[in-house]
Amino acid sequence: MSQEAIETLLAEDRTFPPSEAFTAQANLNDEGIYERAAADPVAFWEEQAKTFEWMEPWSQVLDWQPPFAKWFVGGKLNLTFNCLDRHVNAGLGDKVAFHWEGEPGDTKTLTYSSLLKDVSTFANGLKKLGVGKGDRVTLYMGMVPELVVSMLACARIGAAHSIVFGGFSPDSLKERIKDSESKVVVTCDGSWRRGSPVSLKKNTDAAVAEAPTVEKVIVVPRLGDKIETPMVEGRDHWWDDVIEGCSDECAPEPMDAEDLLFILYTSGTTGKPKGIAHTTGGYMVGAGMTTKWVFDIKPDDVYWCTADIGWVTGHSYITYGPLLNAATSVMFEGAPNYPDEARFWQIVEKYKVTVFYTAPTAIRAFMRWGDEHPKKHDLSSLRLLGSVGEPINPEAWMWYHEVIGGERCPIVDTWWQTETGSIMIAPLPGLTTTKPGSATRALPGIAVDVVDENGESVPKGGGGFLVLRKPWPSMLRTVFGDDQRYRDVYWSKFDNLYFAGDGAKRDEDGYLWLLGRVDDIMLVSGHNISTMEVESACVDHDDVAEAAVVGRTHEIKGQAIAAFVTLKKGVDGSDDKNTEIRKHVSAKLGPICRPDELYFAPELPKTRSGKIMRRLLRDIAEGRELGDTTTLADPTVVDSLRQQYEAKHA
Ligand code: WT7
Repeated sequence: MSQEAIETLLAEDRTFPPSEAFTAQANLNDEGIYERAAADPVAFWEEQAKTFEWMEPWSQVLDWQPPFAKWFVGGKLNLTFNCLDRHVNAGLGDKVAFHWEGEPGDTKTLTYSSLLKDVSTFANGLKKLGVGKGDRVTLYMGMVPELVVSMLACARIGAAHSIVFGGFSPDSLKERIKDSESKVVVTCDGSWRRGSPVSLKKNTDAAVAEAPTVEKVIVVPRLGDKIETPMVEGRDHWWDDVIEGCSDECAPEPMDAEDLLFILYTSGTTGKPKGIAHTTGGYMVGAGMTTKWVFDIKPDDVYWCTADIGWVTGHSYITYGPLLNAATSVMFEGAPNYPDEARFWQIVEKYKVTVFYTAPTAIRAFMRWGDEHPKKHDLSSLRLLGSVGEPINPEAWMWYHEVIGGERCPIVDTWWQTETGSIMIAPLPGLTTTKPGSATRALPGIAVDVVDENGESVPKGGGGFLVLRKPWPSMLRTVFGDDQRYRDVYWSKFDNLYFAGDGAKRDEDGYLWLLGRVDDIMLVSGHNISTMEVESACVDHDDVAEAAVVGRTHEIKGQAIAAFVTLKKGVDGSDDKNTEIRKHVSAKLGPICRPDELYFAPELPKTRSGKIMRRLLRDIAEGRELGDTTTLADPTVVDSLRQQYEAKHA
């Protein structure tokens, strides 16, 4: 975030207290909860854990050997029992768990009892293929009901799922399958993207060809004859053949609270993606309670989180959190602007959505598309709005509040990470006065702080690094297979503090303002992309000698990717070459990683010791005055880059 943007943000003084009516009905409306939780967080979390069903109780709430935590030690449970059987047993079997809205025009309703049957059936199918407790299964699918069924089926039998976003390339998929040593991959023949069929199975084939741990591939027929799907004899099985003859009952596997529930890969600043490892008991408590508190879920709500399940938001707030709360959710397969820009609002009206959770990048796109789209639809069912993924600028916040929320819906700006498993900072909608652009304060039981370089708390009004001072139930337990990396990335910047990688400011009222990443991670449309990864993909192109990648401010996406590339001798920096390299990155990493801009440089700006001066590249990409250039080895290199920037933006 630029200094100017930070200053505008901190000048924000509008406040929005919850209405009396909202507070009166809220799941949490006793301010005392913050203090009670802070006085004894371990006891507080134990109290929360008791609201779920356990097969065996824990003997110790927290075993903390920094930086390794064990929560609910000795406790046994099955997460799917808490998501499904518990509600069916309580008479909620016919309640809708998901209204699935597919493309183009397909719909499906999953009730708690039908979902339990589907999960149990597929769980038996997985067992039949030799999957058992402790195995890993990679899911590479679109937003189809079978994705939720697959996740839960894994959890039912104690296999860990590793979901890879369907927009990732075969290479990225391969890397993740190999790192997790998955035995089975579940994929779809393809998926619909803006009305066109896209193959997923072909990507899976390319990835699996180089991933020797994979024994079986299960294929969901989503597109049928719209796409060609070659099957490998003996290895590949259609979903329907896998479940053929399987019983729709499957006893939930008793899992230790600390058994692996899932791995989810997230970008690292160096090297390969990190497999963030989440375990069963603590994750359940974190995802379940935060859904109840932050989204104020009630029996009659219709909740819709627009994320893809390939990201952590979908794990915690489409699948696990809502199901733990017996919520009725909408699950959407399509895009916000297909067939037109009113698609989301049409869905809100159709299902009478009450709680809506989306990302600032989407909100900014809606703003640009114009108010006429939401105005065409009846949005009066909405009562609570959420935001996640990156800082929401006050202008977008106000638009969301006025145009979507009709000025009556509290907005919960939720800060968290793949690593935190569940929301850490957010308003409690019945208690917290909100300020546009601030995620407000830490949730009860979460010890957030803003510290300086020495790990000392900054006073009110100060800025620094966002940290967590105490372990929390849904925290990552490690980086899969790499405890050292877990220590290095999260616990080595400060002694015994979890370093989130974000900058933050605390205002005079103690409110938190998130200021974006302080490391080399870009936030593009809310997706976490490492500059390193994009650089390696550029350099992987035969004609590229060297590359440096930075994020620059982008009106809609939050950040856009700018790449600076030096070509090998004799290669001409033509427009075609420019497109070709960007396409290469897209093919290598997936379309979301494709650089928005690519500049050719005879040389990259470096210090005399040979370090690339990203700071200057960022200045160029942002179109700003260049900062201090005195340490540059060759000051002329930035002039040429600056000229290209000006030519492009003239
Ligand atoms: C990074 C984590 C957690 C779900 C989506 C992203 C940024 C996330 C906010 C917010 C400001 C936010 C942070 C964080 N971020 N939510 N409400 N305000 N920044 O998960 O891919 O693990 O990315 O997203 O920079 O570190 P993720």
